[in-house]
Parts: sequence; structure tokens; C-alpha cells
Amino acid sequence: MLTLRFLLAVLHLFALAIGIAAVYGRARALRRVRSTADLPAVFLTDNWYGIAALLWLGTGLWRAFGGLEKGTDYYLESHWFAGKLGLFGIVLLLEMLPMTTLIRWRKALKKGQPIALERSTLLARLTWLQVPLLLLMVVTAAAMARGL
Ligand code: HEM
Repeated sequence: MLTLRFLLAVLHLFALAIGIAAVYGRARALRRVRSTADLPAVFLTDNWYGIAALLWLGTGLWRAFGGLEKGTDYYLESHWFAGKLGLFGIVLLLEMLPMTTLIRWRKALKKGQPIALERSTLLARLTWLQVPLLLLMVVTAAAMARGL
């Protein structure tokens, strides 16, 4: 049990390291898009962001509701946890357009279809906006873990 708790805690923090690097990298890569030759760099960082998101969700939900840490009731009664999930929801909302657009771009690139690259500026902005929210999530996480 302790090993599983430890492992999930490590993976949750790995997600943080991977996710912050990936979201920052994707914002930079999107800002630099001039032609379709620049897209693989965007897709690579997007892949890593996706991996981080899955790790965050998988390990986070398991820790919160799998009875491994402080128990489901503790988290459901914590305002910090509610705040953390609220921030996660906003990040998800901000991510809807980049996620769906990049899925379409991947398909279009494979088929050699035209891509509206001028959208990359908006996608970069939506990606940047997620960074402070993720950092705020770290604040809420540390507060929630210590029962503040
Ligand atoms: C739905 C998604 C998530 C859920 C359900 C979740 C849940 C949890 C839980 C249950 C803990 C253990 C707290 C404890 O020790 O009592 C935790 C810790 C932590 N989470 Fe998350 N998490 C999620 C996403 C994230 C994200 C996106 C970030 C960062 C941006 C993050 C950052 C952290 C950090 C830094 C800790 C360690 C806190 C500490 O021990 O000081 N989590 N999370």
C-alpha cells in the first residue's frame, strides 16, 4: 500500500514536470509556426502535454478517491480541492480549441490538405494562459495536502 501511494505520488509529480515543460514548449512552438514544416515541433510538445494530462488525471483521481491517501471525504470537504478541480476545469476549457484544432491539423497534414496556420497565434495565447493556472493548482494542492 505504501509502495503504491509512493509510486502514485511520484507519478503525479512527474506529470507536473512533464506538463509544465510541455505546455511551455507548445506555446513557444505555436508562436514560431510559419509553415507546415514547423508543425512537428508543435505535435511533439502536444503529445507530451497529453501524456501529462493522462498521468495527472489517472494518478490524481486514484489518490483522491481510491482510499490511498486521506480518504474521499477529506478531499470532498476541502475547499482547496474544489479550487484545484475548478482550476483544472478552466484549463480544460482553455484547452478545447487547441486540442480539437491540433487533431484536425494532424489529419490534414497527413492528407496534404491546407491548414489555417494563422490560427496558431490564438492557440499559442490559449496555451500560455494555462501556465499560471497550472501553477495556481500547485498552490491549492500544497494547501489541500496540509489541511489549510
Ligand atoms: C483531476 C486532476 C487532479 C486530481 C484529482 C488531483 C488530486 C491530488 C491528490 C489527491 C493529491 C494528494 C494530496 C495529499 O497528499 O493529501 C495531489 C497532490 C498534488 N497535486 Fe494533484 N490532482 C490533480 C491534478 C493536478 C495538477 C494538474 C497539478 C499541477 C498543476 C497537481 C499538483 C499536485 C501537487 C504539486 C501535489 C502535491 C502536494 C503536496 O504534497 O504538497 N495536481 N493531487
